[in-house]
Amino acid sequence: MDIRLQANADNQDVAGLMKAAFGAERNNRAVWYLRPAEPVSSLCLVASQNNKICGSLRFWEVIVGGHCQLLLGPLAVQPDLRGKGFGRALVIDGLRRAQQHNKWDFVLVSGDPDYYPKFGFVHIEDGQFIWPGALLPNVLQIRALHEVGLDNLPVGPMAVLPLAVRKTGH
Ligand SMILES: CC(C)(COP(=O)(O)OP(=O)(O)OC[C@H]1O[C@@H](n2cnc3c(N)ncnc32)[C@H](O)[C@@H]1OP(=O)(O)O)[C@@H](O)C(=O)NCCC(=O)NCCS
Repeated sequence: MDIRLQANADNQDVAGLMKAAFGAERNNRAVWYLRPAEPVSSLCLVASQNNKICGSLRFWEVIVGGHCQLLLGPLAVQPDLRGKGFGRALVIDGLRRAQQHNKWDFVLVSGDPDYYPKFGFVHIEDGQFIWPGALLPNVLQIRALHEVGLDNLPVGPMAVLPLAVRKTGH
């Protein structure tokens, strides 16, 4: 298994992976309101094996309490290759790279409540963050990127906002 940065030549494979994981309407999910701009290019990762793309993980920057922080996802592994450790390898490598930047305090994820705690994520109390769209219980999770990453977190509720405002198209 190889984890490396996504190259332009991978874009079609990654789009196919996303469609297989999240369906054709994937970009209509509320979380995409937080992804109006490009992902963090140094954190766009693919997992490959024998030159075949098996998984993808990207991160976007968001604004929380006036500070730039990270949003993990989408994360997806090829359906027939799930359960073989690709997702784990992508998340561990992504968090390691994010930490090395020394730019963000924490990472947020809206994801499976059982999947992310093994990587150090903890559940966020209901109402601490204002999220674009309805959330199922316990899906919103947070992980510090350095020792005191969560120390200055305002009590909330505070909005999670996109880094750039989406153009309305008028
Ligand atoms: C979720 C997903 C990325 C996991 O990738 P994966 O490569 O299958 O996961 P891994 O093989 O690395 O699993 C690592 C561990 O998590 C467990 N796990 C896998 N999927 C899980 C899930 N949905 N919930 C809880 N645990 C899960 C595995 O059993 C494994 O546990 P172990 O270490 O005790 O053996 C993959 O199933 C997927 O693409 N799903 C569809 C898209 C999606 O839901 N993306 C994530 C949004 S939260």
